Amino acid sequence: MIIAIDGPAASGKGTIARRLAAHYGLPHLDTGLLYRAVARVRLDDGGALDDPQAALSAARGLALTEFDEARLRGAAMGEAASVVAAIPAVRAALVDMQRRFAAQAKGAVLDGRDIGTVIAPDATVKIFVTASPETRAQRRALELRAHGETIDYAVVLADIRRRDERDSGRSAAPLKAADDAVTLDTSELDIDGAFAAALAICERARKHKP
Ligand code: DC
Repeated sequence: MIIAIDGPAASGKGTIARRLAAHYGLPHLDTGLLYRAVARVRLDDGGALDDPQAALSAARGLALTEFDEARLRGAAMGEAASVVAAIPAVRAALVDMQRRFAAQAKGAVLDGRDIGTVIAPDATVKIFVTASPETRAQRRALELRAHGETIDYAVVLADIRRRDERDSGRSAAPLKAADDAVTLDTSELDIDGAFAAALAICERARKHKP
C-alpha cells in the first residue's frame, strides 16, 4: 500500500504520516527534508538561494549530504527550502529517489506537496491535509519553541502565508490536492483525532484498491 500525504506547512501531515507508517509497519519518507537538505547546502555555500545551477548540484549531491534533522527542521530552513523547491531542475533531480522509495515491495508512506499529483499518482490512498493558517501558525510556533527557537506568532503566521503562496503559486508541481485525494481539515482536531480520521480514510481506500 502506498499512502500519499500532501498539504501545506504545519497542517499536521508529518505527524499523521509518521503515525500511519507506524500503524501499518511501512517505511516513511518526509520529502520536505530533501528540499530542506538542498537549502542547507546552499545556505552553507553562501550565494543566492534561487541560483538554479548551484541548487541543482546541491540536489544531485544530496545522497552525500548529512541529514542533521534538528538543524533542517528550523524555520529558516523551511523558508529556504520553499525557494529551492520552486526550481524545476531541483524537483526533477529528486523525483527518482522519491519514486524508488514509494516503489518498495511492502509499500510506503510519503508526505510532501506533490506526492499524490507527481511522485505517486497511483497511490492506494491520497490524503490532502489542511488547516487554517492561524491554526497552523500556532502549532508551528509551539513546535519551534519546543526546539529552542525564539519565535513570534505574527512572524510565524506571515511566514506560513508567504510559504503557502510560493508553494501553491509556483509552476513546477505546485501544492494542490490531487483530483482523487480526500481532504482532511485538522483545524478542529487534536493529534489523536486527526490520526483516527486519516486511518479511517486509509481503511476505506484499502477496501477499494488493495
Ligand atoms: O514540509 P516542509 O515544511 O518540511 O517543506 C519545506 C518546503 O519544501 C516547503 O515549503 C515546500 C518544499 N517541498 C516541496 O516543494 N515539495 C515536497 N514534496 C516537500 C516539500
